[in-house]
Amino acid sequence: MRILGIESSCDETAAAVVENGTHLLSNVVASSSSLHTAYGGVVPEIAARSHIEAIMPVINQALDDAKCTIEDIDGIAVTNGAGLGGSLLIGVMTARTLAILHDKPLYDINHVLAHVYASFISQTDIENLKTCQKPTFPMLAVVVSGGHTQLMLFENHFDYRLLGQTQDDAIGEAFDKVAKIIGLPYPGGPNIAKLAESGDPNSFSLPIARMDGYNFSFSGLKTAVLRLAQREAGVNMDFPSMQLAGKLSEAQKANIAASFQAVAIQTIVGKAKKAFDEYSPSCVVLAGGVAANTELRQQLNNALPVDLIYPDIKLCTDNAAMVAALGCFKAENNQHTADPYSLEINPSLSV
Ligand code: KG4
Ligand code: ZN
Repeated sequence: MRILGIESSCDETAAAVVENGTHLLSNVVASSSSLHTAYGGVVPEIAARSHIEAIMPVINQALDDAKCTIEDIDGIAVTNGAGLGGSLLIGVMTARTLAILHDKPLYDINHVLAHVYASFISQTDIENLKTCQKPTFPMLAVVVSGGHTQLMLFENHFDYRLLGQTQDDAIGEAFDKVAKIIGLPYPGGPNIAKLAESGDPNSFSLPIARMDGYNFSFSGLKTAVLRLAQREAGVNMDFPSMQLAGKLSEAQKANIAASFQAVAIQTIVGKAKKAFDEYSPSCVVLAGGVAANTELRQQLNNALPVDLIYPDIKLCTDNAAMVAALGCFKAENNQHTADPYSLEINPSLSV
């Protein structure tokens, strides 16, 4: 079972070929991220235009790298939500056209679920990774991305429930906003993580939101960081936040980054551990762009009595391998196919 995956929900145009849900044959990602840096975040129109230019070259490259043609493909999987409308449309229209033209089954893929399935891709296929642990059920999924922060419990493939989620900002969004406050370029997550290495995580005390059950909140933390940066810079609340970074020393910025990251990680680890203790899953999977954060990986792994499973760094942020992997499991589990003549995008698709 060979599936071509297509992903275009945000600023990455991606295509990949995965065999049997676990074997990665190719993985191509073209990012328009550098075009958004000057604006401090993704500009939807620029992202959509970049997808139009990149999508066919990226798909052709993925087929070439997998040493196959579209005729060797058993189905096409495409992200149809959640994401930016204009961006999703390019991937979905391309997948629909290819499915009709080459008479292939089409699978509609939920982006958040796809992030979880990145962990099913065999890690022996990926350079530099020696472990080969496969997720098992029941499985707790900790989804931490730029758009989502969720805890999900999977009894089996396609049998899952949402335990809780953020009630405002996603954790990745908080990383990006804090980066902006201290003058680090977009995408902020990796830049905060790097700067935090030279800072002291205990230098400032920042609040952890106390939310019911397994829900999260990150907007208060973001505002607390803004107030802290203003205090450290010696300015009042009316001072333009765009100019705040210029008033902070490198040491102050590093300490703010480290203190913020520590609290953000503590929030996730605390809830994930609570869910582990209540539901006793046989494995825990970390998924989404923020899963690339090594400090989060280490602290969550240390807090759990089982080994944490997480994808290789390049399968944490948006890619199409995860989309193709979920497409394979959909096909193998006789899940419904999408109508290539009518599949719609759903920018606010939930799990
Ligand atoms: O999953 P993803 O690529 O896109 C969404 O589905 O949202 O996640 C992107 C998010 C961004 O907020 C980015 O800053 C964050 O993941 N991110 C990180 C790291 N690498 C990416 N956050 C913290 N530490 C990282 N190393
Ligand atoms: Zn994503």
